[in-house]
Amino acid sequence: MLESYMVECKTRVEGVMQLCLSEPFELAPQLREAMSYSAFAGGKRLRPILVYAAAKASGSEAQLADSAACAVEFIHAYSLIHDDLPAMDDDDLRRGKPTCHKVFGEDVAILAGDALQALAFTVLAEMDHPNPRQLLQMVRILSHASGYLGMVGGQAFDLASEGKSRTLEQLQAMHSLKTGALIRASVQLGGLCVPGVAKQKLSQLDEYAAHIGLAFQIKDDILDIESDTETLGKPQGADQAKLKATYPALLGLDGAKEKMIQCYALALSALETIDGDTQCLRLLAQHVIERDF
Ligand code: IPE
Ligand code: IPE
Ligand code: MG
Ligand code: MG
Ligand code: MG
Repeated sequence: MLESYMVECKTRVEGVMQLCLSEPFELAPQLREAMSYSAFAGGKRLRPILVYAAAKASGSEAQLADSAACAVEFIHAYSLIHDDLPAMDDDDLRRGKPTCHKVFGEDVAILAGDALQALAFTVLAEMDHPNPRQLLQMVRILSHASGYLGMVGGQAFDLASEGKSRTLEQLQAMHSLKTGALIRASVQLGGLCVPGVAKQKLSQLDEYAAHIGLAFQIKDDILDIESDTETLGKPQGADQAKLKATYPALLGLDGAKEKMIQCYALALSALETIDGDTQCLRLLAQHVIERDF
């Protein structure tokens, strides 16, 4: 059931993304090529799927969630292009292909990331939302989650933490920002697609999202150790090579797994309080901790 739902959501969001990137830019065609290369290089599309699933749990048709789903994936794509740059994680492989800067050069890759970020907000602002105040709230949530008090802040702390010892509290704060913020925003945006959605529903959804956001990054850290480069589509062992602050580095593999399972259980309890069709959200939480890549 989850499998077919994921394929359906993936197809939907990729169609919207294609449309958004369809206009040619003749002055510097490489820019759009680089944006498309990274936006369509593969990827699980977990964040857009969460937008759709949260919209469903709030009683919305998938169509209402298309723009928000596309916007979060553009932010994610931009974050990965920059994450792989030599000045950041310096990785050559992403989703089984050479990273954006390897193909197009660092200059174009930086600009492709910048442009994808801006495009995310264009798409969201152009959304035909029946309630303009809610749309403004969506723009605020996505921009906040992407910025210095969100994903970018987490990335800055991640880079500053290489080779340093960090407390569990600091690690949790870092993961919650660098990965959790965009996952939480995805779920909030899904809820906010529904005109008049109740504040209480949004806060219940947010509790779920905060737990799966943390579980997602802990799993990413675990896979960096336990998986292989071919399955991951990105270099295995990259965290250890850069002495990254990760859950397995701090708690050991077993400790990290235990923490991830605790997060999963908390996510499920949060869902129990929600009145709506939360089946996809529940299965997605399981997928987050059981995935192979
Ligand atoms: C990778 O995200 C970066 C992290 C935030 C850990 P994903 O694992 O969602 O990457 P794709 O989009 O599926 O390639
Ligand atoms: C990246 O975390 C989080 C982002 C905001 C992109 P990682 O650096 O662990 O992601 P991967 O492992 O390279 O995908
Ligand atoms: Mg990184
Ligand atoms: Mg990285
Ligand atoms: Mg990682």
